[in-house]
Amino acid sequence: MTELISIRDFESAAREKLSSMAYDYYRGGSSDEITLAENDAAYDRLRLYHRVLRDVSERDLSTDVLGSRISMPVLVAPTAFHQLAHPDGELATARATAAAGTIMTLSTLSNCSIEEVAAVGDAPLWFQLYVYRDREATRGLVERAEAAGCTAIVLTVDAQVWPTRERDVRNRFHLPNGLQMANLMPAGFDEIRQSHSDSGLAHYVVSLFDPTLDWSDLAWLAEISSLPVVIKGIVHPDDASLAVEHGAAGIIVSNHGGRQLDTSVATIEALPAVAEAVDGRIPILVDGGVRRGTDVLKALALGAKAVLVGRPILWGLAANGEEGVGEVLEILRKEFDVALGLCGCRRCDEVDRGLVADV
Ligand SMILES: Cc1cc2nc3c(=O)[nH]c(=O)nc-3n(C[C@H](O)[C@H](O)[C@H](O)COP(=O)(O)O)c2cc1C
Repeated sequence: MTELISIRDFESAAREKLSSMAYDYYRGGSSDEITLAENDAAYDRLRLYHRVLRDVSERDLSTDVLGSRISMPVLVAPTAFHQLAHPDGELATARATAAAGTIMTLSTLSNCSIEEVAAVGDAPLWFQLYVYRDREATRGLVERAEAAGCTAIVLTVDAQVWPTRERDVRNRFHLPNGLQMANLMPAGFDEIRQSHSDSGLAHYVVSLFDPTLDWSDLAWLAEISSLPVVIKGIVHPDDASLAVEHGAAGIIVSNHGGRQLDTSVATIEALPAVAEAVDGRIPILVDGGVRRGTDVLKALALGAKAVLVGRPILWGLAANGEEGVGEVLEILRKEFDVALGLCGCRRCDEVDRGLVADV
């Protein structure tokens, strides 16, 4: 087997192990997959002005996000259905993420339950929330996340209308027998069935997710939970300002990894204007297309406190379970450490705007 030394190597290894339905579900985006490709390409277009002749013999990659100290500015993004990659599913991801000293965000649509994943250890765990039309079921999810010890709610706001993910339509995407969405069992919304004409997931979301969600629902969330709310799915600076005004504890600049609105702006291109609008009032995170340590550095330079990675974690999990997720996180750590040092920085807070060329 080829040695797995980069995130791309892990993707190739994962592809060999996964069914084509699972690989396409993980890999794919919406429509023409333009945003999906742009998320990566926009990082590749950015050039660094590295700094020299500073003592970088000692480097500290750790940072703080919402009161948690993490070992590096890389978190795990919420992604659904980890048991499509490995039988241990989200439990394996949680163990590897905890061992790496960072935060996992658990998807509403996980195969393992909030309680099982939270029981893995003491590492901080965030819970990603999709708001269902059934608000009592939604409240149940939030209350369970809080009771299980999750330290933040990540409210995903870019999925109120479902786009066509053509790969999933062609594959008639569904959850294989035996896999369910453990968090939704009490509400009876735990299965994604095969549809004869569409992606089963599209059918599920359209019938169950709440398209009426709006800014006033942040007050509703604050009523039912005392957890900080991080809003995921913002790219417009005006929405970033509204998020601050409505009490968000943080923002994730995200286009859902190119899976929602196709031709939406690449997230690293959206970040500077969002950072300007937020003006340091709340932390900004960014996801989409982070595949190298230099990408992490570019995100920090343009105003992010940290990044999240989605697919790289799934590639690690599919390639080699818990160990694979750990290896993926260590690759990113090592690459970011090199990028930091070669840019003349010893700590995350020394990374500044001047390191990235204007494009
Ligand atoms: C297979 C897959 C499933 C996802 N499931 C969710 C989800 O359940 N909830 C959510 O908020 N975002 C979900 N996302 C989006 C990710 O949280 C994240 O925004 C995206 O993957 C980041 O891009 P990257 O994969 O290029 O790192 C999913 C992404 C992928 C690839």
